[in-house]
Amino acid sequence: LDSTDADPFEVAAQAADDIARLTGVDRHDIALTLGSGWGKAAELVGETTATIPATEVTGFSKPALEGHVGTLRSVVTPRGRRVLVIGARTHFYEGHGPRRVVHSVRTAAATGARTMVLTNGAGGIKPTWKPGTPVLISDHINLTGSTPLEGATFVDLTDLYALRLRDLARSIDPSLDEGVYCQFTGPQYETPAEVRMAKTIGGHIVGMSTALEAIAARQAGMEVLGFSLITNMAAGIQTTPLSHQEVIDAGREAEPVISDLLARVIGAL
Ligand code: 6GU
Repeated sequence: LDSTDADPFEVAAQAADDIARLTGVDRHDIALTLGSGWGKAAELVGETTATIPATEVTGFSKPALEGHVGTLRSVVTPRGRRVLVIGARTHFYEGHGPRRVVHSVRTAAATGARTMVLTNGAGGIKPTWKPGTPVLISDHINLTGSTPLEGATFVDLTDLYALRLRDLARSIDPSLDEGVYCQFTGPQYETPAEVRMAKTIGGHIVGMSTALEAIAARQAGMEVLGFSLITNMAAGIQTTPLSHQEVIDAGREAEPVISDLLARVIGAL
């Protein structure tokens, strides 16, 4: 994938073949990427029929971090829909470039998935969002300075986080709030001034994933649904320093509730 003459869509097609072979499932309908705090959702979505280490699938890199399980799962919902659960995210801050970051999304599309559900743990800018609050992503601002699109590839991002799917999520939990997600490069958390900037330009959530993946999903013609788990208030909004452990702990605590929500939304897709 790092080589400029490799075609990322061909690598994704190979990865989809690997998944079909290793899971025994030819086609998936939905893909779900699990971010920090969302890990329990896979068990609630349905019955796992296969779990494979991502390292056995073409183009996937080794997991970088605690709280990021490097597996792909094939799950069948009670209504018989096949869900590819991606517990192997490559982050932009790992420095491999956008092709590797969106490889799982392109692979999901190549398995047949028409719906991409992206989840993450993120910082909240609205003071009313306490750690543990799930928020629907209504739109994003890509602050990475990067893109998964190559060459003159013009992709329309109107309704990127499909209103149809957000309405469906809200029909399951009417109390769900929504906000604009700002993807920063990381791995450092934002400064208070950067958080003020994000707020000024219309952001509500700050994180280190999702936007590049959503762009690739739209390019592949998928419908996108995004959820952030607010694991902490962003710098300057909360007065105490930010720590990775705090993010992990908030995720762990909120996990049962938000995973149940996510499973019900996916069950309704
Ligand atoms: Cl405050 N910022 C970013 N970029 N990512 C986060 C976060 C904050 N909290 C959890 N993930």
